[in-house]
Amino acid sequence: MIKFPQNFLWGAATSAYQVEGNNIHSDWWEWERRIGLKEVSGEACRHYQLYKQDFTQAKELGHNAHRLSIEWSRVEPREGDFLDTEMEHYLDVVLCLKGLGLEPIVTLHHFTNPWWLAKLGGWQNKEAVAYFLRYTEKIVARLCEHVRFWVTINEPLVYIYFSYILGDWPPQKKSFFWAKIVFDNLVKAHVGAYRIIHRIYAEKKNNRPLVSLAQNLQAFAGWNNSLRNKCAVYLRNAFFNFNIIEKLKRSKALDFIGINYYTRMLVDAKKWNLRSLLLDKKEDDAPGMKKNSLGWDIYPQGLYDLLLSLKRFKIPLMILENGICTENDNLRWDFIRQHLKKINLAMGKDVNILGYIYWSLLDNYEWDKGFSPRFGLIELDYKTYARRPRESAKKFAEVCKTGVLADE
Ligand code: FCB
Repeated sequence: MIKFPQNFLWGAATSAYQVEGNNIHSDWWEWERRIGLKEVSGEACRHYQLYKQDFTQAKELGHNAHRLSIEWSRVEPREGDFLDTEMEHYLDVVLCLKGLGLEPIVTLHHFTNPWWLAKLGGWQNKEAVAYFLRYTEKIVARLCEHVRFWVTINEPLVYIYFSYILGDWPPQKKSFFWAKIVFDNLVKAHVGAYRIIHRIYAEKKNNRPLVSLAQNLQAFAGWNNSLRNKCAVYLRNAFFNFNIIEKLKRSKALDFIGINYYTRMLVDAKKWNLRSLLLDKKEDDAPGMKKNSLGWDIYPQGLYDLLLSLKRFKIPLMILENGICTENDNLRWDFIRQHLKKINLAMGKDVNILGYIYWSLLDNYEWDKGFSPRFGLIELDYKTYARRPRESAKKFAEVCKTGVLADE
């Protein structure tokens, strides 16, 4: 029997664009159509209309927290034009969570941008920082009475990797130069937002909020022990995992470290150049390696190792995303169990962890991969929009309700 602390936060996450539907002012919406993406987000999960039903379900599943994001392009569909009706919508969403006894964890930027901002160069333009801070100020002023946990930016390095290094996501650049500029702007945006949030709470004499980002951590392992792979692992850990945390800690702009963890990458650098050292990988086809439906390795040990290596920062941690897409719900439950065990083990080694948020509450729109990856605790029928909690959700509910992971 494995026990978690009484005040542990348990829940699941969503992001606005992936569940709400009809985010027509977003850069992703424009891009889906322009390039003729096979599956467009469309109505997504109709969560914009059905959020009460979804949160009630989360409550029934024992959750005491929920991570969501605000869609910037809804709130500010044209530069400087903040829509009161949309601000009011997100206030209702947060109040609905509070009413159900779910702690809201609110993300301000989860990959998508207003289309007007993208037309101005998006995060390549240093003005993006000021625009983001103006939006942050508006949202935080509106929601601060009800929100304790803020996440400024979701996975800056994943965003940079797909949008500015691999060039798969909008604006489809392949440039280390632009990647670095965007990185610097996102760091500035985080630090600025951190300060604004704290200032607003202090002015209103609200309790101190806890502000972080959601940092994707990946376990990196060399495919063999060559010097090149050792260097590549070192560089990837620095560049993708730890640099940003070190930077933000130095700026005193992290109250906790939000962690998203999914998988491990087998590093196989073919050449001595930056692209190879940072990007080349190998498929792990070892017999017995379990994978999700997108082919990502399932590797709970990696989470444990990363949690222990974060101890040196002396800042509390929170798992803000951890999950699996699969058609096999037994595998989902096994995934959750194995990761919870590792989290508990790390806590036993004095790693301070505040909560566990599963990705995702619902099956949803998995970006350029469309609707087929099934990450949800709750299954969605995209023809009728009916929701049905999976068995794994019910097993997870027992843990959320009791704080105990029973032996199986
Ligand atoms: C993370 C994203 C989230 C979702 C999961 C599967 O990188 O934050 O939106 O796509 O992966």
